[in-house]
Amino acid sequence: MLNKLTGRKKMSSPEAAEELQHEKIPSHIAIIMDGNGRWAKQRGLPRIAGHREGMNVIRNIVKACNNIGVDTLTLYAFSTENWKRPKQEVDFLMRLPERFLSVELPKLIEENVRVRITGELEKLPDYTKKAVNKAVDSTKHNSGLILNFALNYGSRSELMDAFKDIYEDVDKGLIKKEDITETTVTDYLMTSGLKEPDLLIRTSGEMRLSNFMLWQLAYAEFWFTDVLWPDFTQDNFHEAVKAYQKRQRRYGGV
Ligand code: FPP
Repeated sequence: MLNKLTGRKKMSSPEAAEELQHEKIPSHIAIIMDGNGRWAKQRGLPRIAGHREGMNVIRNIVKACNNIGVDTLTLYAFSTENWKRPKQEVDFLMRLPERFLSVELPKLIEENVRVRITGELEKLPDYTKKAVNKAVDSTKHNSGLILNFALNYGSRSELMDAFKDIYEDVDKGLIKKEDITETTVTDYLMTSGLKEPDLLIRTSGEMRLSNFMLWQLAYAEFWFTDVLWPDFTQDNFHEAVKAYQKRQRRYGGV
């Protein structure tokens, strides 16, 4: 069955979603999925149990995005700073894409979702690369929701690389210094081709960006919740979108 508002295949129809204004759906939503460790600690479980539970939430949020007609969902799954965590935790996090995609990839293909990765893939273990490359490749012709995993991503290093690449291209005569615009910088980032996020959600009560999409979030609306990521529901998601719809976006104007 098709969703009458989005024309996309209908995944679920929670009442809260029906209350949203369908002409004001954020096109790109980015989420900092925080609080997995605390969720586990509260239950006397190892931190990795929180990450496992957090992985399961992704499924519901993808469905919710599809249902209301979001174009792109970016999930901050692993930052360039997360390597500082204990080896056992890093190893577990590196296995998550494989675990997630072994179950979810057929469903993502069926739901016309296109998987994309933003981050330094080369530095990931082979099994992680293999899993994500397979997902990217087998969904590359899909035209529905873009599910963009920020994996081994850090915004400052992304910006530095962009500046170096621009410098090199100026040096080679491919572009002129005076022709560099904001669009040029945007095009040299790892997120090139994606719209910039309209809404940033961060769970677990923390209110910071943690080196996430510093350039791309310049005009995004921020929404924070105390809910820990493993407890984050479709209702919480709809609450965030509802809050977004009440905001007045002025982009520096009046
Ligand atoms: C932050 O919580 C969470 C992460 C660093 C990892 C997030 C990853 C997932 C939810 C799963 C990713 C799944 C795939 C398929 C890539 P935290 O551990 O910092 O929580 P804390 O602040 O309570 O310690």
